[in-house]
Amino acid sequence: MVMDLKAPRGTKDILPPESHLWKEIERTVDEVGLLFGYEEIRTPMFEQVSLFKRSVGEETDIVSKEMYLFTDKGGEEMALRPELTASVVRAAIEHNLVTKQASSSRLYYNSAPMFRYERPQMGRQRQFHQFGIELLGSLSPLADLQVIEFALAVYQKLGFANFHLKLNTLGNQSSREKWREELVKYLRSNLDALSEDSKRRLETNPLRILDSKNPCDTTIIGGAPNIIDYLDEADASHFDEVKSLLTSAQISYSLEPHLVRGLDYYNRTVFELTSTDLGSQDALCGGGRYDTLIEKLGGPPTPAVGFAAGVERLVLVLMKLRSGEIPKSKSDVYIVIADKAGREVGISIASDLRKAGFSVIYDLLDRSVKAQMREAGKSGTRFVLLLGSDELAAAEITLKRMNTGAQERIPRGNLLGLLQNS
Ligand code: HAM
Repeated sequence: MVMDLKAPRGTKDILPPESHLWKEIERTVDEVGLLFGYEEIRTPMFEQVSLFKRSVGEETDIVSKEMYLFTDKGGEEMALRPELTASVVRAAIEHNLVTKQASSSRLYYNSAPMFRYERPQMGRQRQFHQFGIELLGSLSPLADLQVIEFALAVYQKLGFANFHLKLNTLGNQSSREKWREELVKYLRSNLDALSEDSKRRLETNPLRILDSKNPCDTTIIGGAPNIIDYLDEADASHFDEVKSLLTSAQISYSLEPHLVRGLDYYNRTVFELTSTDLGSQDALCGGGRYDTLIEKLGGPPTPAVGFAAGVERLVLVLMKLRSGEIPKSKSDVYIVIADKAGREVGISIASDLRKAGFSVIYDLLDRSVKAQMREAGKSGTRFVLLLGSDELAAAEITLKRMNTGAQERIPRGNLLGLLQNS
């Protein structure tokens, strides 16, 4: 019989050995979180739709086209979360995470599932996972630097260095509006030359035209007005400080005046890390400031900055970096139990060794000693213990060290000590 059920399009089962790589990434994010003094936050997988409409923005692709929506049995409009910043802000307001006493909050998330109904391709899925941080409460350019440093620390700890930091500022709402007006004027004056997609976007979401990779658009985009020329003094000096902090931290970057990001809540600094090891979906992570979002959602005025990174994309680049080799987990000990008579002793040895911290496996298929020995050899285990009838009768066990092939019979009582000193 052929099974006709499949994982939904745009989702992926994470199987061993790839799941080992996921664990390694998760451990690394936890470690970096600890090193930077961040604590983990977990929020629900679904939220009221209005949360994303009011934060990410109704006109964005994410909200207008890509959300998984449902009405629950109580009649409430819900969405599977397409991103986490909105949820973290909602939780921070709900639980007073930023108060006068605790004037800043350093939060991170790890391998958190997100949902966007996108056209699946390499590095782009409908269910994907993010790690990231949200740093609430600081207006200082030091916070912008820290967010970028955190992201870099994760990639560097994993041995990955082939990425590129793209940096821009979006100023504040009024400078952005002025710039947007000029941009739309400019694009309108070049309307005939724009791609069909961009013509449509000019009415709905003109800033997204700047992301277009269509050759028709790129020359026109090249001559478009830049936000930098519309910044007020405070925003310009914040950006100068961020740049000089990056330079003193020896973090290289390129200025990308057209980097606008696909979410509405940003102001001032925005950034992305990209990798040439990825195809067209080359953004490893992205983030920036959202100083007005907390107030907009009903909290006290609180500046904030953060980033989120795609785990699937990181897995793709790590697989490439390691030429597809993922270390398999190996047991410390494989117990070969010759027959039923040895079961009880075998099980109790396994249990004692596990309590002492050794990973132990034994055959569960009632196979012959020969078959068990063959599997033990293939498994990459460090020690094989043979429990045959002779050993059983003498309260002994045969210990084979797989690195040398040396074999010895020892009293069972000496086993743990021997293993611990090996
Ligand atoms: P974002 O740029 O929408 O930002 O997503 C961040 C990262 O998630 C992307 O750079 C990419 O690595 C990954 N990603 C996004 N969509 C997909 C997809 N369909 N499949 C696979 N990976 C994907 C945000 O989500 C903001 N919340 C980031 C942020 C946090 N800004 C401030 N704080």
